Amino acid sequence: MSAPPAGDENAAYFAANRARWDEAVPIHAASEGYDLAGFLRGEKTLYPVEIEEVGDVGGKSLLHLQCHFGMDTLNWARLGARVTGLDFSGAAVARARELAAEIGVEDATFVQANVYDALAVIHTRFDVVYTGIGALCWIPDVQRWANVVSSLLKPGGFLYVYEGHPMLWALDSERADKLMVVGHPYFETERPSEWAGETTYVDGPPLENQKSFEWNHGLGEIVTALIDAGLRLDFLHEHREVAWQALPWMVRTDGATAARGYARRTAWQLPPGERDLCPLMYSLKASKPA
Ligand SMILES: C[S@@+](CC[C@H](N)C(=O)[O-])C[C@H]1O[C@@H](n2cnc3c(N)ncnc32)[C@H](O)[C@@H]1O
Repeated sequence: MSAPPAGDENAAYFAANRARWDEAVPIHAASEGYDLAGFLRGEKTLYPVEIEEVGDVGGKSLLHLQCHFGMDTLNWARLGARVTGLDFSGAAVARARELAAEIGVEDATFVQANVYDALAVIHTRFDVVYTGIGALCWIPDVQRWANVVSSLLKPGGFLYVYEGHPMLWALDSERADKLMVVGHPYFETERPSEWAGETTYVDGPPLENQKSFEWNHGLGEIVTALIDAGLRLDFLHEHREVAWQALPWMVRTDGATAARGYARRTAWQLPPGERDLCPLMYSLKASKPA
């Protein structure tokens, strides 16, 4: 990609990413991987660890940043939260609104905006800000993101993140020798990594918009950004399990989850004997002082 216009250094990357996400929405909604049918039957799309670690959301206001087409947002609504979802994809927001109507959740709000512009379009403040798997890699500057998150929280409110671990994002996922080799930046970089993929991470037909641009952020950078934005870290858990087959030689371990009424949710681990080698996901909670 040629250099983006001066003064608007990430606009071209955001535009390319948004076009790909717009195209992915109907594909994901029709995919086995997302299992929309399961969600419509009442199954959970959030992971057990997310529900346990966030705790009771009954009566709380919850903002889901980068909500995609709203399944996880509406899962929080089914658990009793008053939800708002934000995503920069117009197709995602439109599908999320339809989905809310389909399942009879009347007070869910969905807003189309870049996360960076959230404060210009959302004027309320929330008890919980939530962001799920595959969100932070689309954000160039984690400090700018953390400042937005902090401003969106009420005093006494908290942020919860469940995400792919930056160490996992840094690994070369295409090695035939099954070695874990660092092949991509672990730390935040000014310029994104450029990817080209015919399909997304779930089943579906090839995309026209094949390029995407992503940024990694080191765990220390993420935590320090939140602290510098005025939040206090409650916990940071690193997990040996990941929600998708991040490396081809991972083994599937989601039998228990599937049996407990969770839609679309798979879990994968490194082979036995390798499980302590590398963290695969993390979850964190950070609170805004009351
Ligand atoms: C992998 S989804 C994450 C949602 C959820 N974990 C899921 O699997 O459904 C990433 C979402 O981030 C959105 N997104 C990417 N960059 C964004 C940005 N800068 N501002 C707002 N939304 C963005 C995309 O449109 C997409 O819906």
